[in-house]
This record gives sequence, C-alpha cells and structure tokens, in this order.
Amino acid sequence: MRIRSVILAAGQGTRMRSKLAKVLHPLLGRPMLQYALEAAQQVSGAKPIVVVGRDAEAVQQTFGRAADFVLQEAQLGTGHAVMQAEPLLRGQSDWVLVSYADMPLLTVETLRKIVHIQQAHSGPITMLSLMADDPRGFGRVVRDADGRVQGIVEEAQATTEQLGIHELNAGLYCFAADWLWEALQRIQISPKGEYYLTDLVEIAIKDGLSVQAHILEDAEEGIGVNNRIHLAEAEAILRKRINRKWMLEGVTLVDPATTYIEPGVTIGQDTVIWPNTYLQGSTKIGAACSVGPNTLIRNSVVGDQSTVLASVLEEAIVEDHVEIGPFSHLRSGAHLAQGVHLGNFGEVKNSYLGPGTKMGHFSYIGDATIGAEVNIGAGTITCNFDGEKKNHTEIEANVFIGSDTMLVAPVKLGEGARTGAGSVVTKDVPSYTLAVGVPARPIRKLAKRD
Ligand code: UD1
Ligand code: CA
Repeated sequence: MRIRSVILAAGQGTRMRSKLAKVLHPLLGRPMLQYALEAAQQVSGAKPIVVVGRDAEAVQQTFGRAADFVLQEAQLGTGHAVMQAEPLLRGQSDWVLVSYADMPLLTVETLRKIVHIQQAHSGPITMLSLMADDPRGFGRVVRDADGRVQGIVEEAQATTEQLGIHELNAGLYCFAADWLWEALQRIQISPKGEYYLTDLVEIAIKDGLSVQAHILEDAEEGIGVNNRIHLAEAEAILRKRINRKWMLEGVTLVDPATTYIEPGVTIGQDTVIWPNTYLQGSTKIGAACSVGPNTLIRNSVVGDQSTVLASVLEEAIVEDHVEIGPFSHLRSGAHLAQGVHLGNFGEVKNSYLGPGTKMGHFSYIGDATIGAEVNIGAGTITCNFDGEKKNHTEIEANVFIGSDTMLVAPVKLGEGARTGAGSVVTKDVPSYTLAVGVPARPIRKLAKRD
C-alpha cells in the first residue's frame, strides 16, 4: 500500500506579524516546517510534497532535496492547497496523508496511528481531533447523537452552540487517494473566499461514507502555531520532551525549566547541566561533565569529565578533563587537548592548545598552534592581524610565556623558550632561550628541563 504525504506550508502566516514566513520561524533552532517534514517522511517512507506559496523560494532553498515542492500561487485555502499536489500524486499512491506545517508537535506515532486506522476502514477519511477547553480558533468536530462524525465547522462559520464544542480538528488526515482527488473538486467556496479542506468531511457523509476521528491522547501534541504566543508554547513543549529524554538517559538537569537543549545535541551519562545552559546545533557533550550555569555551546564537541562554567563555545573541540571558565569564549576552530585549563576571560579562535597547557587569565589566542604543557601568562595576546591578513603563531611544548606578552605574528617560540613579563615578541625565540623587553631580544640560554 503506497502512502504519500502532503504538507501545507503556503499560507501567509499573517498572525505571526513577521517578514519571515511562518514555517521558517525557528523552533529550538530548526525551522518549524522541519518537524512536520521529518515526521511525514518517516511515516510514508517517501519524500513529502510540500505546498509552498509565501516565500516559496526561501522555503525551497532551506529544505532543498528533503521534499518535492508545488506552488500554490494564490492562497485560496487548505482544500485548494491540496489540489495543487494532485498532478504529482494522482495514480502514485493509495493513501494520502495531509498535515499542516504549523503543527510541529505531532509525533511520528500519531501520524502512523492515523494511517493504520484509515487502512483498516472502508471510509475515505481518518482525521485527528483533540479535546480542549481553549479552542484557539480551531475548527469544531460535529458529531451526531450516536457519536458519528458529521462534519468540521470552522470557527468563523460556527453557530453559538457549535462554538461550545470541545472536540477540535487537529489538522491531520489520511485520505483514500482516488476519493480525495475527485472530492476536492466538489468543495464550495466559503464566505471568506477559501476552499476549506475540512469540508471534505461533510462531502463524505453526504456520499453515505463514514469518517473516523481519532482523539489525541496527549492534547499537547495538538498545539498549532498561528502567532508568537503559540510559538513559545510549542517551543516549551518540545524542550520539555527533549529534557525528559536526557534525564531518562542518565543526565542530571539541575533545573529543566532553564535548560535549552536542541534536538541535534547528544549528552553522555552522569553529566550535570546547570541552569541557564544552551546546548545548540550538533553539539556533543561527553560523560561526567559539568556544564553551566550560564553557558552556551553551539556545534561543538566536549569530551568526558570536562567542566564548562559560564562560558560560550562555538564550533570548538574540547577533549577530556578540560576546565573552562568562568567567562571564557571558544570561537570557531578552537581545539583544547586533554587536561587544558582555560580560566577566566580567555578567548581562543582557530587555535590548538596541546595537552596540559594552562591559560589562566585574560588572554587572546588566535591562529596559533601551541604544544603540550605550555604556561600562558596572564594577559598574553597573539597579535595575529596586521590590518590585512591573519598571521600564525607557533609555540612549542613547555614554553613559559610571561604575563602581558604580545606575540606579534608570524612568530615562533621554540621548545622550552621563555618570555619576560611585558615583552613584545616580534622575532622568533629559539628553544630554551629567555627573551625580554620591547621589542624582545634573547638574553640568556636556559637549562633543558626533562
Ligand atoms: C486549520 C483548519 C482547522 C484546524 C486548524 C488546526 C482548515 C480550513 N481549517 O485552521 O479546522 O482546526 O487548522 O491547526 O483547514 N495553507 C496553505 N494554503 C492556503 C491556506 C493555508 O498552504 O491557502 C497552510 C498554512 O500554511 C498552514 C495550514 O495550511 O500551514 C493551515 O492553515 P491556517 O490558515 O493556519 O489554518 P487554521 O486557521 O489554523
Ligand atoms: Ca494554523
């Protein structure tokens, strides 16, 4: 049995009051449409068809080959939107699963359930509903005295009595394909000038066919996003789901309410996440780490048993047993090897710090390669930018850099070299040599330490 899915994403999203298309608004760092897209892809096992309209090009660019796109030139309603998919799908599937891009919380399990119910029935439609006290502008599900579904009435058209109905249309349907393509032609234009997909329920009933409505067990899944209040509510629920998952996997979240973990993140066992921590993008945190409070880590890797306190890490690699913070900043290309200590107010960009190297206070290291067991004194700066290009600094193992040293790149400090406090190093310093002054000059050879 072939299933194809259609996701409606063409609407104006007027209620968002945004220059950005609603379906591209981020939810935990991912565009909203991605949630519906991934769920539909998993259930149908095929590329979903996304109906685009507003900002069609931007939506297509964002998702590229993850979907096939059809354009709905004028937004004439959800029924009209599904019609646009017919040329691609007619004769291609037995069932058509239709969902809305602004329902990001519906799970794969729920989509699957709707498909299974439809496949087990002879009627042409299975729809998802939910019970809620706050109708949030959703269509109401009208049933007869025996509880059989009779229709969906949109809020704008509902009678006072119908407005009081607590069963709402969630906006997820599985249709028998042949019936769908034919019935779409019979939808009448609404007083608002739209062709409502929801009218198909009444059309089926008039044909003498039955419609199944499956009621969501967890009404939270039915939170749709029409405005930014809904966006925040949806994000909070997604966050709660992710946080629960990690706690069940053995991660301690000291305060889940202020812990912001995006879907692509992984965390090892017995790691403790302190409040106000943001783990974003493809970040991977190892086991038995302590992260936060007040920390943001994006697209970075942190090894096992490392500590990151009140710091920001972006596109960085941190190995095992590393201590960072408070108040340090690792930027793109920073790589701290095992046992590195980075204290307060350190910034590292596009640089490697070898095993055991220490950088305790107020330093900037950019475009540098630093060996093992180097001591970087307080206030050390790699002067890597000459106004035109970035230059490289090389510091070999066991170097001792005195406080407030300026390393004017390109420059190299050989193994075991030393600089005096306040020196400005403009020329390479040979191994086991002490250089001091402004500009620094070698004054003494040093004994080799083993
Ligand atoms: C819709 C349902 C309502 C349901 C609610 C649940 C209809 C007529 N109403 O109302 O019964 O309770 O969703 O979420 O279906 N879209 C298009 N083209 C259009 C119009 C809309 O692609 O011409 C897309 C939108 O981008 C959106 C989805 O369809 O993703 C739903 O449209 P929206 O305007 O948000 O419908 P609701 O008023 O929420
Ligand atoms: Ca909606």
